[in-house]
Amino acid sequence: MSPIATYYWPGQTHFGFGAAQRVGDEAKALGVQQRVFLVTDSGIVAAGLLQTVLDALDMAGLETAVFDQTPPNPNTTAVDAAAAQFRDSGAELVIGLGGGSPIDAAKAVRILAGGPPDAKIAEYALMLGDKVRPLPTVTQMPPMIAIPTTAGTGAEVTPWGLITDPARKLKMGVGGPATIPTVALIDPAMTLPLPPHLTAATGMDALTHLIEAYVSTNTAPIALDALIVDGLGRIGRFLRLAVAQPAHQQAREEVMLASMLGGIAISSRWLGAAHSLAHQLSGIADVHHGLACALMLPAQMQFSLPGALERYANVAQALEPCPVVGSVREEAERGITAVRQLMRDTNLPLRLRDVGVTEEMIPILADNAVIDLNWTTNPRAITRDQMETLYRETF
Ligand SMILES: [Fe+2]
Repeated sequence: MSPIATYYWPGQTHFGFGAAQRVGDEAKALGVQQRVFLVTDSGIVAAGLLQTVLDALDMAGLETAVFDQTPPNPNTTAVDAAAAQFRDSGAELVIGLGGGSPIDAAKAVRILAGGPPDAKIAEYALMLGDKVRPLPTVTQMPPMIAIPTTAGTGAEVTPWGLITDPARKLKMGVGGPATIPTVALIDPAMTLPLPPHLTAATGMDALTHLIEAYVSTNTAPIALDALIVDGLGRIGRFLRLAVAQPAHQQAREEVMLASMLGGIAISSRWLGAAHSLAHQLSGIADVHHGLACALMLPAQMQFSLPGALERYANVAQALEPCPVVGSVREEAERGITAVRQLMRDTNLPLRLRDVGVTEEMIPILADNAVIDLNWTTNPRAITRDQMETLYRETF
């Protein structure tokens, strides 16, 4: 008999070109009568995407209060300020519009909006458990609509957000099952303005989610295997095309679908050591999250191979199908080669020294990575010193 499997499915999800235009109707369906609060960043404003959404809300007769100061890696200061603005605005719903950062920030605002007015987001860090502040319940929080503008994080369908705590120089997780966005409007048209280097980096985040969820020790939610393999195939077939031809609508749609599937997969299966290692690169050297994942993925796969050999062989087949000629081990190694080749083909750097990381940072990176508990579902257990080795190998 199998153990009880727990699936965290997304909220109501609308996927396809034009889905973002539904924002006004969806807000009203969630009970909004007058005003919404929208969290975004300056890049989204500059790309003209904010105006698209504001127009749709206006058409529905709704007012919008905008917070457009989300930093590239959202931090506690920005989130606490946004939550204060939410309270002053009298809004009835939170919208997260952007890549993972504004959506994560919007999740954090939603948590603060459901708690006591004097609460700070740092008090909800998952590493603290419920010791300082218990997470508000769904009915205490305002509803949330997520509109992603990148195809990578899958944050529109996941329960958690990542917020940088500058005081502790690390990324902390916030959230839980109650903070899965109420509605996700996943519109590939929103990714059309994304430049190639960000298409590549965010696509590698989606790839990392799919691989880490597939080899995770938390395999009980087994029905996700088919979705993950499907997502890997879409990345293998279409990420290069989305990077090379940003206006290619099918490529954008396929990569965005893969990103959504990655988000659904990690919500129930969780992640692995690549994310523990990557989060610190963002916390200390401000490396883009997707790029940080891509950088650490090959070394982490090589290390983890013995823990999930057959599954890694399946990853290779899903990503780059071809007749099997070698051993399971060789097939699994082929998956690592495929990841490295995908990084080269999409013009991503492969070494930490190329993204502003210095050798002196490595011991601190390892100290922090081992307390980032994503590695606990890694297919092979890992120590702090082994993490330091993976950083040095990638340096
Ligand atoms: Fe990620």
